[in-house]
Amino acid sequence: MNFNIAVIRGDGIGPEILEQALLVLDKVARLYGHSFTYTDVFMGGCAIDRFGDPLPQAELDKCLASDSVLLGAVGGPKWNDVPGSMRPEKGLLRLRAGMGVYSNNRPAKIWPQLAAASPLKQEIVDKGIDFIIVRELIGGIYFGKHETVEENGEHLAIDELRYSESEIRRIGRIGFETARKRNKRLCSVEKSNVLDSSRLWKKVMTQLSEEYPDVQLSHMLVDNCAMQIVKDPSQFDVIVTENMFGDILSDEASMITGSIGMIPSSSLGDGSRGLYEPIHGSAPDIAGKDMANPIGTILAAAMMLRYSFDLPEEASCIEAAVGAVLDGGYRTGDILSPLDSGCKKVGCREMGSLIIENLKKG
Ligand code: IPM
Ligand code: MG
Repeated sequence: MNFNIAVIRGDGIGPEILEQALLVLDKVARLYGHSFTYTDVFMGGCAIDRFGDPLPQAELDKCLASDSVLLGAVGGPKWNDVPGSMRPEKGLLRLRAGMGVYSNNRPAKIWPQLAAASPLKQEIVDKGIDFIIVRELIGGIYFGKHETVEENGEHLAIDELRYSESEIRRIGRIGFETARKRNKRLCSVEKSNVLDSSRLWKKVMTQLSEEYPDVQLSHMLVDNCAMQIVKDPSQFDVIVTENMFGDILSDEASMITGSIGMIPSSSLGDGSRGLYEPIHGSAPDIAGKDMANPIGTILAAAMMLRYSFDLPEEASCIEAAVGAVLDGGYRTGDILSPLDSGCKKVGCREMGSLIIENLKKG
């Protein structure tokens, strides 16, 4: 089959990790007789440098004309002082909104080979870590009005947080549907003891649960959830939460699995076109040094094959190759634990090549 993939290499380590993901896709295409066409799209800091805009409409249009979008990472200190509306991250937010991808799916699953890299005690890790955070992606405080005004002789900054019932309902459905395909436990996370938006969130989730009697719904306050994720992550199956809580909890969840460098994510709306990216940032401190872990991006490419292109075998082939390379003891710096004496440290390119060597048609 033929697929047209919009490729956003981005900033920092973005280009190097994405390169490895494309080489993996090329090999999968050869093995399974598909053809992937890549269209380069500029977004983030590189787009600011090139066009003076983190996501010009023409670049967004290329994404909207594609079958799916694969993204490395954006941002970096070079653009720290540009105004908020022009920051590289604004390009990413405009891309998410422009593509209408309201549902961001972030798996937190421990690879048994990396158990020693988890900062949690072994007895906690041994109970198992395998849950998904379903994060609302195009609403909430990220997309409310942001302004800084002068009042009483000082600056006053305002960020507006709003959610409508329909916005909550559509992400709630994704949460319930995701739980239905797994262990049928959904934990809705909010701050209903303080926020109106959270009280509405809880009410809509409770209403929705009547349509999903087979899914067990629980409610948890976000501060408690942050604690429970490190205390007993085995209790979670699917978490559904609003944009900013999901941003924070998903970083925490990734860390307990060993490294943020391992975690892919998918962002989907109502159609099959998605946005796939690792959840980590552009790591400017190690950019260009061949030190980055490309696995998060490679697994994001696998998710794209599974969820947008309906190619589950090809996706499993990539995941199996990653597993085989970890079994072989190869580690990038971020997943190398001092406890794993038999492991070999490799760079970004070597990690990519090893995964490619291990790609075998099932
Ligand atoms: C993420 C990132 C982004 C977010 C940033 C880069 C805007 O942290 O994808 O989690 O906050 O959504
Ligand atoms: Mg984040």
